[in-house]
Amino acid sequence: MKILVINGPNLNMLGKREKSIYGGKTLDEIDALLKKQGAVLKVEIVTFQSNHEGALIDFIQEQSDSADGIIINPGALTHYGFSLLDALADTKLPIFEVHLSNIYSREEWRAESVIAPIAKGQVSGLGWKGYIAALEALAGEVKGESI
Ligand code: DQA
Repeated sequence: MKILVINGPNLNMLGKREKSIYGGKTLDEIDALLKKQGAVLKVEIVTFQSNHEGALIDFIQEQSDSADGIIINPGALTHYGFSLLDALADTKLPIFEVHLSNIYSREEWRAESVIAPIAKGQVSGLGWKGYIAALEALAGEVKGESI
């Protein structure tokens, strides 16, 4: 089983950026934890981050045929990334949306996700642990386990 873990704009700055909101771990540290848990679950984890919506779409188009599911933190594209939404929808893969912060307890504009309608599930506000929760849920979903 292969799962793509995709992070959007500014998430390369984790560990430095607004630590009180996003936590102290870097994206490399989070990706390493995901790969470790992936090994336990016997899931191959392929990670990708870009600050550019087109690069995210190129990656999704190139990789989705060989993948079983997608975990994505779209960053601010969550709130207006319709091209990203279309690319994700086109994959027909199960998708879990992750946010480190609780997007519902912050500014009003963050409370709307254009990605959520096509996601199987969303994790918001659990910090880096949200990625691990999403991985466990998605791996179970692909294996056909009931929740
Ligand atoms: C975020 C929340 C978004 O509103 C923000 O633009 C981000 C990160 C999160 O992980 O909490 O870049 O997706």
